[in-house]
Amino acid sequence: MPNKSKSRNPILGIITGGGDCPGLNAAIRAVVRRADRLGLKIYGVMQGFKGLYEGKIRQLNPLDVSGIVSVGGTILGTSRFNPLKEPRGIARIKKNLSRYRINTLINIGGEGTMRMSHQLEEHGIPCIGIPKTIDNDVWGTDFTFGFDTAVSIATEAIDRLHTNAESHNRIMILEVMGRHTGWIATYSGIAGGADAILIPEKVFPLSRLMEIVQHRKKMGKHFSIIVIAEDAKILLDVGTKKPTLMQTPMGQDEYGHLKLGGISQLLEIELRQHLKMEVRSTILGYVQRGGSPTAHDRVLATRLGIIAVDLAKKNQTGRMVALQGNKITSIPLTQVVKKLKLVNEEIYKVGEVFFG
Ligand code: F6P
Repeated sequence: MPNKSKSRNPILGIITGGGDCPGLNAAIRAVVRRADRLGLKIYGVMQGFKGLYEGKIRQLNPLDVSGIVSVGGTILGTSRFNPLKEPRGIARIKKNLSRYRINTLINIGGEGTMRMSHQLEEHGIPCIGIPKTIDNDVWGTDFTFGFDTAVSIATEAIDRLHTNAESHNRIMILEVMGRHTGWIATYSGIAGGADAILIPEKVFPLSRLMEIVQHRKKMGKHFSIIVIAEDAKILLDVGTKKPTLMQTPMGQDEYGHLKLGGISQLLEIELRQHLKMEVRSTILGYVQRGGSPTAHDRVLATRLGIIAVDLAKKNQTGRMVALQGNKITSIPLTQVVKKLKLVNEEIYKVGEVFFG
C-alpha cells in the first residue's frame, strides 16, 4: 500500500493515459533518464490505467527509452479506461502497486488523466501529472505537448487544400480535432490563412459564413477555405424563422467524453443547399495525432518530464507540472480539474481579421 510519509524514497510508476499524441515518448524518455540520474527506481505501467488495474507493470531502465525521442505514439501503450468504474478498482490498483513497492505515479495525459490522478490522490495514491494533448485544453499550462505537432499537420493540410480550392473554385472545409475547444482550428486557421474559423467557444451563424464566401466572390476570389473544429457551434439561421444550433450525433467514451466528428459534412450539405458553388469537406482525424513530434513538442515534453521527477524526488505530489510563460512550474491538481482552458478572445480576433 502506498504511503505518503515525507521521508520515503520514491519508487516511481509511469503511465500514459487517454488518447496518444506526439511527444509522449520524449516525455517517457526524460522521466526515465532523470529518475536514473537521481537513483530512483521506475516502472512502466502498460496500456494506461487499464494496465494499472490489471497489473501490467514492468521495470524500465535507460536502455528501454533509447532512441525514442523522435518516435510518435507511446512505447507504454495507452487506453481510455476508467479503473474507478470497475469492481474493487482502488483495492486492485493498491495491490498491484504494492507488489512493486511503487509509491508515486507519474501520469502523462490530458484533462481526463489529470482528473483520474486527482481522484487517485484522494484515495491515498500519490500522483504527479504531466499534461499532454493535441487539444491544448488542459487548465493551468500555456501549452500542452502534442499541440504544436497537430497544428503543423493541420496547417500543411490547409496549404494542400488551398491549391485544389483555387484550381476548382471550391469551398473547402477542413475539420480538425480539439474536442470542446478550438485551439487547433484557431492556430492552424491563422497559420494557413483560413477565410473563416469555426470553434466551440463562438457561435457562428451560417448567414455570416455565406456573407464571407459571397464577399470573396465579389472581390474575384472564387474559392474559400473554412477551418472547423469538431465541436464547433453553427447557428442555422438561413431559410428558417427559428434558428437552431447544428447537431451532430455523438456517443461517449469511458471517461464520459463525447465522441465527436462529422460536423464538416453537415456544414457541406448546408452550404451546398444555399450557395451555387462546389463544396467539399475533409476530416483530418487521427492523422493529427500520429507521427513524429515537432522539435517544440519534444523540448516541452522533455522539460516537463524532468521537473515531474524532481517533484517526485521531493515527495511533492498532488500536482501537475505546467508551462507558464517560458518557465516550467507546477500547480495543484485540485486547480487543474476544475475547468477547461478555452481559446481566448485575443488569439481568435487575430484570425477574425482575415475572415472574408
Ligand atoms: O483528446 C484528443 C482527441 O484526439 C480529441 O481531439 C478527439 O475528440 C478525441 O481525442 C478522439 O478520441 P478517440 O481516440 O477516443 O477516438
